[in-house]
Amino acid sequence: MNESQPILIVGAAGQVGLELQRAFAGCGPILAVDRESIDLADAGQIRELVRGSRPRMILNAAAYTAVDRAEAEPALAHAINANAPGILADEARKLDALFVHYSTDYVFDGSKKEPWNEEDAPHPMSVYGRTKLAGEEAVKSAGGRFLIFRTSWVYGPHGQNFLFTMLRLARERERLSVVDDQFGAPTTSIELARATRAVLDGVSGDGDQWAGLYHMTCSGETTWYGFARAIFARAGGLLAGKCPEIVPIASSEYPTPAKRPRNSVLSNAMLFERFGVRLAPWETALDAVIQALEGDLSKNRI
Ligand SMILES: NC(=O)c1ccc[n+]([C@@H]2O[C@H](COP(=O)([O-])OP(=O)(O)OC[C@H]3O[C@@H](n4cnc5c(N)ncnc54)[C@H](OP(=O)(O)O)[C@@H]3O)[C@@H](O)[C@H]2O)c1
Repeated sequence: MNESQPILIVGAAGQVGLELQRAFAGCGPILAVDRESIDLADAGQIRELVRGSRPRMILNAAAYTAVDRAEAEPALAHAINANAPGILADEARKLDALFVHYSTDYVFDGSKKEPWNEEDAPHPMSVYGRTKLAGEEAVKSAGGRFLIFRTSWVYGPHGQNFLFTMLRLARERERLSVVDDQFGAPTTSIELARATRAVLDGVSGDGDQWAGLYHMTCSGETTWYGFARAIFARAGGLLAGKCPEIVPIASSEYPTPAKRPRNSVLSNAMLFERFGVRLAPWETALDAVIQALEGDLSKNRI
């Protein structure tokens, strides 16, 4: 593979796409594309992009991630989450380029008590989960070299996410009710990008025995309520003295269009065994994002 060929990052304006650009800086030319340069609902545009740029690797961070809205837009969600990765993976195979893709904890139904591993049977409960599972299958059946990283509860210093929702609501309200019966692992875009780079650095030139699907989340687990409490415990500098009362509630008290799994904690054992890569504990990763935002605040960037 020619090092002068670019690494193509798709979904470059998203949370993970932005951090991938940082993490892969210094690895040769990067071609980062967002919705302005390509509409992933258009198969022809995808094929044209890959054939025209001839990347040595494709990192696909794009997805239809609006979990509730997907219930009303299943065809569009399927186009972006299932068809587009399948086409990207097919074009990657033709170039013998590695295809790296992200999937979700929401492929599981949440019924297991322990963390889910890669061999557990998926059973998604939402349009988002079903379309992401169809995307995994499309990537696998394209027949090229691929890595799929299933992750969970993604947030970071940029984009729309639970952290920013909590910070906004804290400024607007005295009291917040947050779901306390869904368990998962908040995972930062920063840790995901760092771990992706670490995996790829470790395997370059090493055959392709390592290709496949792996779970990749920050370690530990909490509920959305626990995550909210941890945010407010750390975010004083971002809240100008405001700290709302947080009330734990059941999912049944906060109905949403999409059903979410009760337990979507993923086991990362295989990622560590195969690549020696481990992500930070979720609390440590949260500290890093809060610090980054405080730095931005001092520069008037948020
Ligand atoms: N966010 C989570 O909590 C979470 C949890 C588990 C797994 N994941 C997975 O992790 C990966 C990265 O997620 P993320 O949180 O970084 O997502 P994100 O911030 O929503 O970014 C996704 C990007 O995809 C782009 N996109 C959507 N439709 C497009 C289209 N038709 N054409 C071109 N671009 C399009 C979006 O552009 P616009 O902004 O213009 O729409 C956005 O920049 C995804 O595979 C996601 O499924 C995320």
